[in-house]
Amino acid sequence: MNKILICYSSKTGTTKNAAVTIANTLKSPYTLIDLGDHGWETLPLMEYNVVILGTSIRIGTPRKDFIHFLNQKKNELVKNKMILFTCGIASEEQNKKYLFKRIPNLFDTDRIMYRHLEGELYLDKYKGFSKLVIEDYIKKNPAPVLNLKAINEICNEAEREEP
Ligand SMILES: Cc1cc2nc3c(=O)[nH]c(=O)nc-3n(C[C@H](O)[C@H](O)[C@H](O)COP(=O)(O)O)c2cc1C
Repeated sequence: MNKILICYSSKTGTTKNAAVTIANTLKSPYTLIDLGDHGWETLPLMEYNVVILGTSIRIGTPRKDFIHFLNQKKNELVKNKMILFTCGIASEEQNKKYLFKRIPNLFDTDRIMYRHLEGELYLDKYKGFSKLVIEDYIKKNPAPVLNLKAINEICNEAEREEP
């Protein structure tokens, strides 16, 4: 069985919910880390076969904690199987562009699995301008939900053992 690390960065809980859903879908042992909490700096990444990394995207930008983790741990991460996911209201194609331009050159991006999971919006967690943006979005669009098909694909890939 693979040993899986799930790390996420989330502002209003959407990406956290996606990460928890991934964790609950896995049959293999996992560790779930909020990159907003301290402590990941000393994580022994070589103990894991697979690292699943998630962030939301705002104004075309992945979250700071996510970028920081990726840059700090790139030399270890490059040796793991890495799976990336995003949450947000833009398309998978658009968010993939935003995300992949922030990935250090060290990684072979063709070999990284990536899925956009969209995810439920929690309007009560937004304030000010952000709340207006989300209120306007909700008025004009169907409510986004977690992409469970993509979650299953991520879990299958994470649990697939290399021959
Ligand atoms: C000002 C603003 C800009 C946003 N820009 C994007 C964006 O560029 N791409 C996207 O997919 N979602 C965008 N969103 C939607 C957020 O990423 C969405 O709220 C996200 O699911 C929140 O996840 P989190 O709570 O895990 O941080 C934006 C939201 C706000 C309020």
